[in-house]
Amino acid sequence: RFSLIITFCFGSLLTSLIWEVIHKAVECYSQTWKKQEDNYQKFRSNLSSKCHGLEEAIITQNNKPVGSEIVYDGSKKTLKVTPELFSIFMKEHPFSNKTLDTCAVVGNGGILINSSCGETIDSAQFVIRCNLAPLGNGYEKHVGTKTDLVTANPSIFINKFGALNGRRRPFVESLRSYGNSLLLIHAFSFSAYTAVSLRAIYTIEDFESPIRPVFLNPEYLKSLHLFWRSQGLRENRLSTGLITTSLALELCNNVHLYGFWPFSNHPHDLYPLTNHYYDDVKPKKVHAMPAEFDLLMRLHSQGILRLHLGDCP
Ligand code: CDP
Repeated sequence: RFSLIITFCFGSLLTSLIWEVIHKAVECYSQTWKKQEDNYQKFRSNLSSKCHGLEEAIITQNNKPVGSEIVYDGSKKTLKVTPELFSIFMKEHPFSNKTLDTCAVVGNGGILINSSCGETIDSAQFVIRCNLAPLGNGYEKHVGTKTDLVTANPSIFINKFGALNGRRRPFVESLRSYGNSLLLIHAFSFSAYTAVSLRAIYTIEDFESPIRPVFLNPEYLKSLHLFWRSQGLRENRLSTGLITTSLALELCNNVHLYGFWPFSNHPHDLYPLTNHYYDDVKPKKVHAMPAEFDLLMRLHSQGILRLHLGDCP
């Protein structure tokens, strides 16, 4: 009975915290947004000096030479860079010394359904998407199709494509809608993901798919973790949305977020939403999405990035 009472009290506390975040978000969102150049420059230079995303976010032949060690971010295991592994790393970092004008980071939230945001998203100079989220099937009107970078968690290769142990064509065909974008693979979180990630890369090469696979650098993730902790965020693992937003904040002068709303009701009309715009698989427990959202809302109100919660014109 005691544990029931605790669960109930904790549950109610959590629900009231979530409602507080929602209420704050709606209130803050109703004010006119204006970019605050000073705040943005200060934030970006702090982030860059701690995380060096433009040189470190992706594993390259420069930052991981033969003989160096990759330390997994989800375990204490390490992996030595062999000449074979080295040969599939990018030669140079694709973002070094680059600044882009406008970037759209597309989260996978159900809030995108019927948003008509596709055209606005596609008008950005650089579009980042998460976890190979689908673009066809009528979604294009609401989420767009332009993709410059798309992330992949190797669990997708395992769950959707039989760990690429059987026929591999369906996997390659599923990549077609992302054209020649960068495919950012989270291969070094757990050692169990490395072999399947390598199979994905070899498949892409063998079938001559135009997509360009690259590896997310676990060292970058560690510095990001410390950075967001210094901003007040306490969580075990950063969500893909926060990782890609962090990268965009270093890379782009103007960062626009779409599909970020980790709550089960729409902010304006309160009707129920699915977790993703394409399915209702619930978020992993290791993430603290509402706390992350609270931080993003803070950056929105400081004019550092712009969150889009409503429908697009
Ligand atoms: O890989 P992860 O579980 O973090 O993400 P996902 O469920 O594939 O969604 C991609 C990103 O969209 C998340 O990391 C969140 O930042 C964002 N998202 C959100 O803000 N609200 C939702 N209801 C779903 C996703």
